Amino acid sequence: MPERVLGVNAVFHDPASALVVDGRIVAAAEEERFTRRKHGKIPVAFSTWEVPERSARWCLDTARVAAHELDAVAYSYDPALAPARSEDVTADEWESLRTLYVERAPLFLQSALPGLDPAVVRFVPHHVAHAASAYLAAPFRSCAVLVLDGRGECASHLAGHAREGQLVVLAAQRLPQSLGLVYESVTGHLGFKRASDEYKVMALASYGRPAFLGELRDAVRTTRDGGFMAEPLDWRRFAPPVRPGEEWRSAHADLAASVQRRLEEVLLELAQWLHERTGERALAMAGGVALNCVASSRLWRDGPFDEVWVQPAAGDAGTALGGALYVARDLGDAATPMAGAALGRGWSDDELAGWLDGAGVPYERPPDVADAAAETIARNGVVAWFDGRAEYGPRALGHRSLLADPRNRANLERLNDVKGREQFRPVAPMVLLDRAPEIFDGGPIPSPYMLFTHRVRDGWSERIPAVVHVDGTARIQTVDPAEEPLVARLLRAFERRTGVPVLVNTSLNTAGRPMVDDPRDALECFGSTPVDMLVMGPFVVRRPGSAAAVRQARPEVLAA
Ligand SMILES: [Fe+2]
Repeated sequence: MPERVLGVNAVFHDPASALVVDGRIVAAAEEERFTRRKHGKIPVAFSTWEVPERSARWCLDTARVAAHELDAVAYSYDPALAPARSEDVTADEWESLRTLYVERAPLFLQSALPGLDPAVVRFVPHHVAHAASAYLAAPFRSCAVLVLDGRGECASHLAGHAREGQLVVLAAQRLPQSLGLVYESVTGHLGFKRASDEYKVMALASYGRPAFLGELRDAVRTTRDGGFMAEPLDWRRFAPPVRPGEEWRSAHADLAASVQRRLEEVLLELAQWLHERTGERALAMAGGVALNCVASSRLWRDGPFDEVWVQPAAGDAGTALGGALYVARDLGDAATPMAGAALGRGWSDDELAGWLDGAGVPYERPPDVADAAAETIARNGVVAWFDGRAEYGPRALGHRSLLADPRNRANLERLNDVKGREQFRPVAPMVLLDRAPEIFDGGPIPSPYMLFTHRVRDGWSERIPAVVHVDGTARIQTVDPAEEPLVARLLRAFERRTGVPVLVNTSLNTAGRPMVDDPRDALECFGSTPVDMLVMGPFVVRRPGSAAAVRQARPEVLAA
């Protein structure tokens, strides 16, 4: 009998569910994609009662597994490792309330999934779940493992050695020392949302100089046991806090640059320690800090490992998958490495046609949807691209994407306007895998999950200005035709027209909203934004009056 293991993340933020059957990842999705509430819930102790019931139910439904048929449910937090619970649950910033809710989680899950036996729920230590989401999903039989996070039960980091699916923990830094919380804290100081907008600090950093690096080096430093110290810093020493509506000044960019640079240095030192202990050539990473693609790229370039692999849902959402893989392994199932991030919801062509008919919008089924979209993009149109199963993790990888022409510099501002984002935020390119080395270097290729930054080679920066960040880099997604045949065909069709095998690819969503997930979200997004064309599976909806989206009678003429 196949083992069926559901994983859930419910404690801090980004609630999510994943289903593993016989060691194989069948489904994984974040709760926010269903509830349309960014990050799923507020990251406070008293929201821990919420369980990701919609994503969990979808996981079971899509695999036709009834709740009573589950062999185990992995919950990615172990209350036995948390600080001892006090009588007063309001003490210690509600820490005891959080622990109490986690202890009751089997009953909450039984309510959400009628028929579930609460006795099958197993608690997996938070950072073991993060670690398993990397080493059991990565394409390595053995590797070093590094988890860098805000916090778990009582630690913020894990360094380990994985061999044949078994993890040996070599170091775990105890709280309150936390690189993730240092980064979160400066995120709040710079006027962004903590535990949510850390990537904006990373983007802002490239506009500054690491002017305060000396002070950061004194306060945040590694220790000889594989861990680190992170003393509290009063950020006001360096720059005043940014209040809502205020502009960032150069001191703020310098502060972001200093924290970013120190994070990279500490990451390199931790990796060096881990490399010496394990002797492994490959490193698998997870935890929220692993989503810092500038730091991961520095580690790839300057660190001791030949290969660095980051799980695409490296944040807390990924612990649903990691927990499920860990428990499945414990039940005796060898894990099958992750084949891709398209693990969320998808619809058949007939279902998509039903949604379009229901919306009453005129649509067509062109002979080749890739060609039709490439034509619109080459005419400087913006295309909302909805195809296949939704991505697990924060990056759009050609399933729920907004696509545009990278040759037009103004498309950066245009897309940031569509998405209601700050203008300092870069947009990223997707590129055909076999052409990537000619255009980008300084980062791993292939890079299918858009988790590393690369340098744009001389001669190409001027050709694709919309995707070149202020520091001359780009966070690329390489597209392998064997893995993503339709997206590869789209890139080829665009290249035939323009000579450029690159497209701007940013997530399909509008300001402050989770990524588009279902056809209704896609239609609402198309209806409320100046997008020229909506592609849904094999169907195309053109914006009335859009010059870019006009049907081309003889595309072969342009292709010549
Ligand atoms: Fe975490």
